[in-house]
Amino acid sequence: MAISASISRLTVYYKRHGCGSTLRRFSIAARRTLFSSRMVLFYCDLSTLSSSTSEMPSRLKVERHRSQADISPQDLQEITSFWNPDLARRNINHRFELGASLWLIKFEDKLAGYGWTLRGRTVEPHYFRLGQDDVHLFDFHVFPQYRGRGLNPHLVNHILRGVAAECQRRAFIEAAEWNQAQLASLRRTPFRRLSSARKFTIFDHTIVCWARDEAMEQKNAFKNAPLAAAGSKQTSITDQQESLQSTEAQ
Ligand SMILES: CC(C)(COP(=O)(O)OP(=O)(O)OC[C@H]1O[C@@H](n2cnc3c(N)ncnc32)[C@H](O)[C@@H]1OP(=O)(O)O)[C@@H](O)C(=O)NCCC(=O)NCCS
Repeated sequence: MAISASISRLTVYYKRHGCGSTLRRFSIAARRTLFSSRMVLFYCDLSTLSSSTSEMPSRLKVERHRSQADISPQDLQEITSFWNPDLARRNINHRFELGASLWLIKFEDKLAGYGWTLRGRTVEPHYFRLGQDDVHLFDFHVFPQYRGRGLNPHLVNHILRGVAAECQRRAFIEAAEWNQAQLASLRRTPFRRLSSARKFTIFDHTIVCWARDEAMEQKNAFKNAPLAAAGSKQTSITDQQESLQSTEAQ
């Protein structure tokens, strides 16, 4: 995230929650950055899923939106007012411009959470390049009052079956290693752990450090599935195998 965006988020947080909470929040973020900054990467082979929609309790409903105009003003307001409204609206616009879909999960017709998908690429530089028929799932959120009821796995499972009808390759998602809620949630989906890694973007170049003991596992998972040809600033998995000397120790 750009420094200006981080400052903007911090300012909004300070205005809403005051000095004490902001300091606590800042200290948690600093600890996570210093001691727990690795992301756990997951993949799902879409060709193994049936394309029919998953079993969903009758009180839950999932909607897919491909443009901001599609979303009701109330839903948009709930999504954007949750943190920094200006930044959130900018992000939403940008994601739709790239061709992303926003999936909303509703509990008894009330917005309870959301998640995004983008096919063939990622919004931000990623750990490896995606192929045209790969899908990235990102930025999942369940509003606090609905957490712990399995909504996120329902949403992820529904999305996976939905995108399996369009793409036959792989879906990818990641979760921060400190994010036990998201890690627990993903265990209830067909996603399987691929590896864990850190990435840094410096002057438009993304450097990825894979966890050492998982690098071979990650290589094996992809050996029969060559990724997209070179040409983007993102590093490919194959590139990563060649630079494993820089891989960190666990
Ligand atoms: C991560 C998140 C999407 C999970 O959604 P969810 O619908 O609550 O998921 P689940 O119902 O599967 O619960 C997953 C875990 O959340 C934790 N949890 C349960 N109740 C909770 C509550 N009231 N509040 C917070 N976390 C809770 C539990 O660890 C649970 O796992 P367990 O049932 O094995 O103990 C949600 O917690 C969230 O929006 N978090 C903030 C944003 C985020 O971290 N997004 C993911 C990264 S993109």
